[in-house]
Amino acid sequence: MKVGMLTGGGDCPGLNAVIRAVVRKGTFHYQDNFVGFLEGWRGLVEDKNMPLDLAAVAGILPRGGTILRTSRTNPSKRPDGIDRCMATLENHKIDALIAIGGDDTLSVAQKLHERGVKVVGIPKTIDNDLAGTDFTFGFDTAVSVVCEAIDRVHTTAEAHNRVMVVEVMGRDAGWIAMYSGIAGGADVILIPERPFDVDKVAESIRQRHERGRYFSIVVVAEGAKFSADTDPSRGAPVLQDMDKDEFGHAKLGGIGNILAREIEKRTGFEARSVVLGHIQRGGSPSAFDRVLATRYGIGAIDMVHRGEFGCMAALRSNKIVSIPLRDAIARNRTVDDEIIQVAEGILDSTASDKEAVRR
Ligand code: F6P
Repeated sequence: MKVGMLTGGGDCPGLNAVIRAVVRKGTFHYQDNFVGFLEGWRGLVEDKNMPLDLAAVAGILPRGGTILRTSRTNPSKRPDGIDRCMATLENHKIDALIAIGGDDTLSVAQKLHERGVKVVGIPKTIDNDLAGTDFTFGFDTAVSVVCEAIDRVHTTAEAHNRVMVVEVMGRDAGWIAMYSGIAGGADVILIPERPFDVDKVAESIRQRHERGRYFSIVVVAEGAKFSADTDPSRGAPVLQDMDKDEFGHAKLGGIGNILAREIEKRTGFEARSVVLGHIQRGGSPSAFDRVLATRYGIGAIDMVHRGEFGCMAALRSNKIVSIPLRDAIARNRTVDDEIIQVAEGILDSTASDKEAVRR
């Protein structure tokens, strides 16, 4: 078969491992040929492509980023965008397309599927918030990067008697904040799923310091919101600017800084904030992510040859299975209660501290 492949949306460690696995299994076991479309859906809209063979994927397993590059191009926002994608696939005589991306990229894959394109999806998001799959690759690496950063911030917080606020990625779901906060021993973890009352956060820190601690670590997801119940002027995520990408997403960022200021104002403890930003998405994937990405790649090329189109490879109970694309894009997968209870369980705290985690 002749198979096209693209990577769309924000990058994450492990994309190259997926591409390599697809090409190797497709070549060795199915005698497939591959075309790589460049920069996400832009590659199909503008027919930007590269040959994708064993030589092209040699040595890419440990490399971050994606050799196919990526973008947030939305063909539906361009005149004839979807038609142009169809025409490019036809020109190259592509039998099947593998789209590696998050809900935005996969929503375009679903549209193409509805127009008759034989498409298989692979879930990709650093935020780990795609429905239908237990974990996305890249998440484990991001959590390790953040955990190391928290460990480093810990020693300087301790040296200066400070409250350190660490802002991490997580637009709609707080998976990175929750996992790295637990792994890094954070005192407060704030996630988009639970708008928070800043007075309660400050009070929990004050009580901790009353018990003899003299520094605190707060981990906050970029999409976390002040509760509108306690502060009606807020209740929405903090934006970097008013720009939106082609899928309508605003650029988030700045909650950490605001929070540090508000905590300092309320407690009198000196506070600083750190924004980890794209450091979380860069660099070499962890061993876990290399294996997971390879499993997704193998799963997807097998799905192509089983004719499971309009579907996405998903991890369920540590097995790669096939699920309908429409189920994966239907909703975000938010942090589940069980993991929130884990965070609450290990807090050296009173009930009101736990309230800070919960709300
Ligand atoms: O969607 C994943 C994500 O990393 C979000 O956590 C973050 O808000 C966004 O991408 C950043 O996007 P960009 O790389 O376009 O700035």
